[in-house]
Amino acid sequence: MIRLDKVSKRYRTAAREEYALRDIDLHITEGELCAIVGTSGSGKTTLLNIFGGLDRSYTGTVTVAGNDLHGLSDAALAAFRNRHIGFVFQQFSLLDHLTCEQNVLLPFHFTRAPFAGDPRQRAREALEHVGLGHKVGETPRNLSGGQKQRVAIARALFFKPRILLCDEPTGSLDSTTGQQIIETFRSLNAEGYTVVIITHETRVSSAARRVIRIEDGRIVSDGTEATAGGATA
Ligand SMILES: Nc1ncnc2c1ncn2[C@@H]1O[C@H](COP(=O)(O)OP(=O)(O)O)[C@@H](O)[C@H]1O
Ligand SMILES: [Mg+2]
Repeated sequence: MIRLDKVSKRYRTAAREEYALRDIDLHITEGELCAIVGTSGSGKTTLLNIFGGLDRSYTGTVTVAGNDLHGLSDAALAAFRNRHIGFVFQQFSLLDHLTCEQNVLLPFHFTRAPFAGDPRQRAREALEHVGLGHKVGETPRNLSGGQKQRVAIARALFFKPRILLCDEPTGSLDSTTGQQIIETFRSLNAEGYTVVIITHETRVSSAARRVIRIEDGRIVSDGTEATAGGATA
C-alpha cells in the first residue's frame, strides 16, 4: 500500500543544508495500524508529508496504492490525495463560523473533485461515522476538543480514502479524550482503513500493532513494541 525505497530529504536553508531523512526503506501494507514515534525534529512530519503526497522534493522512490508519486503531475498528485488519503492534524483546522457539515464539505469545495451522489448527504454520513450525527448543524465553537478532532476525522473521511495519515492527532487533547480519539482510529482500522499515526506519546503508540521509531532521519527500530520502553531489535 505504501512503499518507500531509499528515500532521503534535505532541507536547504541560507545557513546550511541538512538531511531530514536518510535512506528510508519502509513498507506499510493495506490494513495496518502503525505508529511513527521519535523525538521532536527526528523527521516524522517530513516522512508523513512525503508519502502523503504533500512534499515532492525528495530522492528515492515512493509508491502509494500503486502510484509512483514522482511520476505524477501536481494535478494528478492532488487527485491522488483526494482519492486515497485522509489527513488529520494536531490542530483541528476547523472554521468556527461554519457548521460541522460545512466543515466536512470543505475538501469537496476546495478540490471540486467529481463526486457521485449528494455531497451534503455524504458529509452527514461521515459525521455519523464518528458519532457526531447530532452535531451536523452546529458550529465547532462549542464542541469539546475531542469532538472537534472527530469533525476533522469526518472531514478526512469525506472522499472515502483508504489511508488515514495523522500527525500528532492527540497532541492538543487531554489523555482521556486522546484515548477516545485513538479508539476511533482503531475502529476505523478494524473497518479496513490503513492508519498511520505520528505521536510522541507512548499511550498512543501502545495502541498500534507496529511502531516505527525514527531518530535523526533514520529508522532505528520497526516492530511490535511488546516491551515497554521500545527496546525492540
Ligand atoms: N521547512 C523546513 N526548513 C528547514 N528545515 C526543516 C523544515 N522542516 C523541518 N525541518 C528540519 O527537518 C528535521 C525534521 O523535522 P520534522 O520532520 O518536522 O520532525 P518531527 O515531525 O519529527 O518533529 C528537523 O531538523 C527540522 O528542523
Ligand atoms: Mg512533526
